[in-house]
Amino acid sequence: DEASAPLNYDPAHHGHLGHKKVTIVGCGQVGMATAYALLNQASAGTIALIDAKRERLEGEAKDLEQGSAFHQHIRILASDEYSVSKDSHLVIVTAGAAQKPGESRLNLVERNVSIMQSIIPKVLSFSPNAAICVVANPCDILTAVASKIAGPTLPAGRIFGSGTCLDSSRLQSLISKILNLDTSAVQGYILGEHGDSSVPVWSSVRIGGLPFLKPGEEPGEIHERIHQEVVNSAYDVIERKGSTNWAIGLTNAFIAKAILYDTRNIMPLSTCVRGMYGIKEDVFLSVPCAVGAFGIHRAVQTWMSPSEQRKFVETAGTIWEIQKEIWN
Ligand code: LAC
Repeated sequence: DEASAPLNYDPAHHGHLGHKKVTIVGCGQVGMATAYALLNQASAGTIALIDAKRERLEGEAKDLEQGSAFHQHIRILASDEYSVSKDSHLVIVTAGAAQKPGESRLNLVERNVSIMQSIIPKVLSFSPNAAICVVANPCDILTAVASKIAGPTLPAGRIFGSGTCLDSSRLQSLISKILNLDTSAVQGYILGEHGDSSVPVWSSVRIGGLPFLKPGEEPGEIHERIHQEVVNSAYDVIERKGSTNWAIGLTNAFIAKAILYDTRNIMPLSTCVRGMYGIKEDVFLSVPCAVGAFGIHRAVQTWMSPSEQRKFVETAGTIWEIQKEIWN
């Protein structure tokens, strides 16, 4: 009881990370890579894992826990019931069908929309104030669907998609390899769809803070090739190992840090772009976003070259064509 507890010891809130709670819904390859990255980066005090495959989930949780002598004190909870997610600061949704070799992200839409319908209300009922990060594919459409399911009373910015945060990392990583630099020396955005029609914003690429393109220089064939390699990245990996998980897991941990520590960092995330670039529908695409506690604080309509902007708007049209079928 409280009186006999030393120093008001609360087993649910010990350690300097104790009050930060992240729930991961869907504990396949992507969910577990996310958990592992969070664990190693000591970003949360509690990680709750939810998956319908209970036996496997228990195995994953035990396996992580058995290494607890080697990571900061982080509680691992696991259940097939959503009550385990109660009072999360952040919920990361990775559940859903994944691409088979050669299959596009957009192909998954029907299978994964119904999964969102079952997940989002339960998540909100146990954590009405959580930020919700949708990772499942097609990421942009599922984020829009999740946001619609949550309803208009939920503040904009609370539900967002991991979007092109990963694609941008892939771009930065490729450029840094070409230039033989550390990836942290390269900044730059891929915006728009997390997928085949993503928009490389070459004008945003900086090497050590200096512009990559010369003033007035248009991207050429080499730039096109690099972007194509980014677009092919997931296909390439899925072809070889069946799925992608480590890079997206690290992406999710990066996003989580901004929310849990309220860092107000800027990163590309999928959010509603209605009103930007003349877009009139509730389409979700990635733009640079300021991120902190509770999710996206501000989405930025950045300058893009006319051709980049055209491509962005075109994608919004394509995504809307698919989305409107499931909208009513
Ligand atoms: C990828 C999956 C997560 O791009 O869409 O790796």
